[in-house]
Amino acid sequence: MRFQSPRGMVDILPEDQPYWRHVTKASEKLARSFGYERLDPVLIEDTGLFLRSIGEGTDIHDKEMYVVGVLGKAEEKMGDLALRPEFTAGVMRAYLEHGLSSRPTPLRLYSLGHVFRHEAPQLGRYRQISQFNCEAIGSLDPALDLEIMLIAWRFFEDNGMKDLAFQVNSTGCPQCRPRYVEALRAYFAPHAPKLNLDDRRRLEVNPLRVLDSKAEDTQALLADAPQMGDYLCEECAAHFAALKGYLDALGRPYSINPRLVRGLDYYTKTVFEVWGKEGLGAQNALCGGGRYDGLIELLGGPPTPSVGFAAGIDRLVLSMKALDVPVEPLPGPQVLVAYLGADAKLSALQLLNDLREAGLRATATFGDRGLKAQFRFADRAGVPYTLVLGSDEVAQGVVSARDMAASSQTQVPRADIVAWLAERLTG
Ligand code: HAM
Repeated sequence: MRFQSPRGMVDILPEDQPYWRHVTKASEKLARSFGYERLDPVLIEDTGLFLRSIGEGTDIHDKEMYVVGVLGKAEEKMGDLALRPEFTAGVMRAYLEHGLSSRPTPLRLYSLGHVFRHEAPQLGRYRQISQFNCEAIGSLDPALDLEIMLIAWRFFEDNGMKDLAFQVNSTGCPQCRPRYVEALRAYFAPHAPKLNLDDRRRLEVNPLRVLDSKAEDTQALLADAPQMGDYLCEECAAHFAALKGYLDALGRPYSINPRLVRGLDYYTKTVFEVWGKEGLGAQNALCGGGRYDGLIELLGGPPTPSVGFAAGIDRLVLSMKALDVPVEPLPGPQVLVAYLGADAKLSALQLLNDLREAGLRATATFGDRGLKAQFRFADRAGVPYTLVLGSDEVAQGVVSARDMAASSQTQVPRADIVAWLAERLTG
């Protein structure tokens, strides 16, 4: 029996690591430059935290969460704990649990790591997803919405994406949204028999979700459906107008998308996505976020208006490859120690150790192979130098140092070899 990684979960092989290193380094630098501090919430939380935050009728809530149990421990009830399907709920749980509300606001936090969702896998859509997530907690100022949007923008720009555009909408607040939801329900009521089962259920449980239905019949009906923009209360309308004014002032292109509601229920007022034109076709939403002014209260904290976003790194890496974005290669070994015979092997192990302790990246084949095979390995590894120890070298207290590019060999006293090599590799 051969095992494979679970469907929709992808191993990151050594050749892909330079992209991942590039993106994670760039995100940390970006987040820090905006004054964000890192917080890593735990990977597994009470399932109830996610159910509560994300909301019934959303795909994540209803059918995408991985719940976990402990083999052989009946008392750990299966379903009590779940792998995080996103960061926001866990970050807010940590914020409340550790009393971070006593820190100056807005509190700016970022996270990097995996989230898990049982979605239908396809190119650019996975079940193990790597996210860069930012949250700005404790302010209602639309300038903070702008800040979050600018980080999202820069994240893609810094990683070589071009032709970006914002999609923005306001989803209102608990004051104005119910009127809109009623209007949406009333509009769809006479058409309900034409809708598929999923959309009919959404209409009952969570009508806003109908707005991002993929069903053709529903989409056709949505063309004439009422729009949230016409139902915003004064405060939400002013907030949205201010944000649009800031975006105009900074010259960032955006489209108002009245059907953008996003797949999570905690959003209030601003929601946005960054779309890329090239790269991934159907998966053109590169990232998404918005305000969630009621979430912390919903989790038992004080009213704390907040805003955030998350970007999928897997999707970005696919686009970077498709667009040939240059990334720095990761440093490989600098020297291979080759040896022939048991005595030389002992000396080689000592030499290898000395090189590594001196901070050089040194490797060996082991397994007592012939010299030819060891040189082949050195070529494959791309090392600039190979050091050879045979019985003659050991007897004379020297090492034969081969410059791989020049195909030239020099004998260097064993006592001097580490310094000799360090000078050539780092000098
Ligand atoms: P989300 O839109 O569910 O938002 O996910 C954010 C991003 O994660 C997406 O735009 C996409 O880049 C990536 N992503 C999501 N699902 C997948 C998938 N199956 N395969 C590949 N990439 C995926 C959130 O998670 C919110 N917590 C964002 C947020 C933070 N809102 C406020 N604060």
